[in-house]
Amino acid sequence: TWTMGSFIDEKVKEIKDKVGDKKVLCALSGGVDSSVAAVLVHRAIGDNLTCVFVDHGLLRKDEGDHVEAIFREEFHMNLIRVNVQERFLSKLKGVTEPESKRKIIGEEFIRVFEEESNKLGKMDFLVQGTIYPDVIESGSGDSGASVIKSHHNVGGIPEDIEFEIVEPLRELFKDEVRRLGLELGISEELIFRHPFPGPGLGIRVIGEVTQEKCDILREADAIYMQELKSAGLYKEIWQAFAVLPDVMTVGVMGDERTYAHLVGIRAVASSDGMTSDWYKIPYEVLERISTRIVNEVDHVNRVVYDITSKPPGTIEWE
Ligand code: XMP
Repeated sequence: TWTMGSFIDEKVKEIKDKVGDKKVLCALSGGVDSSVAAVLVHRAIGDNLTCVFVDHGLLRKDEGDHVEAIFREEFHMNLIRVNVQERFLSKLKGVTEPESKRKIIGEEFIRVFEEESNKLGKMDFLVQGTIYPDVIESGSGDSGASVIKSHHNVGGIPEDIEFEIVEPLRELFKDEVRRLGLELGISEELIFRHPFPGPGLGIRVIGEVTQEKCDILREADAIYMQELKSAGLYKEIWQAFAVLPDVMTVGVMGDERTYAHLVGIRAVASSDGMTSDWYKIPYEVLERISTRIVNEVDHVNRVVYDITSKPPGTIEWE
């Protein structure tokens, strides 16, 4: 009978047979699919795998450090963390249009990845965290699966680099990928983390992206996630996040007038992200979230709750 354990054994053997003692590269994002794919390949070939993690500075609070801790310290993988936060911010300076931001972030990501890959010398294989629904969406057939949709995978890989592709998750649905990840010893926290777009906070800071706005948003978002978790709601929700619209509002703190940022909070119920309902967070929880964000995050004096479903809204605000 089929078990996750035997699946792992089979895949490990398959990867070993395919790769031999050649060198393998992986673009690790810290998301579920790329993480599970990387750990599985690492189990098969150990140090012949090198993971490149591009920290573009548009990640959630402490996310870069967590990725580093998990894969380098816990799994002992060869991990290169590329700190290019300033490079991305300078590319994004003055840019406000959402698709332009996506394009800049996606292209810069590929450039950074290429530079790192060149530094490493000849790598023969590239790991991709393609899962079964991606295979179907991009049209069946072997070449189809390596076509990367710009919208959904900023971890996209340049087409002109010559690699053979290793896609160990191609036959799996998301819930199977999660089970596999747990079986491989990846923490529940990572495995059940909400989906996060490749352009990250770049499309959650509305309008121009600056360091200060990213920092404010990271703090607000972290408090929001903490409160969802302590209310036992995080796992019920498909995706939840804070956004920072480019809006300042007037408030009062003590006997001082304030003029500070507005934060939006979004939570959706969905099964695939294609359509979604706004998630009904209980009022008491909303109240705690709002109170904590306004009290604890500097430069924020107001919180609004997004009650739009998709369609007509999209999940992200940009
Ligand atoms: P929308 O906003 O289109 O989002 O309703 C649907 C799902 O896709 C994610 N999303 C993205 N993921 N790059 C990504 O990798 C993107 O540019 C992007 N835009 C949206 C979004 O977070 C949601 O899960």
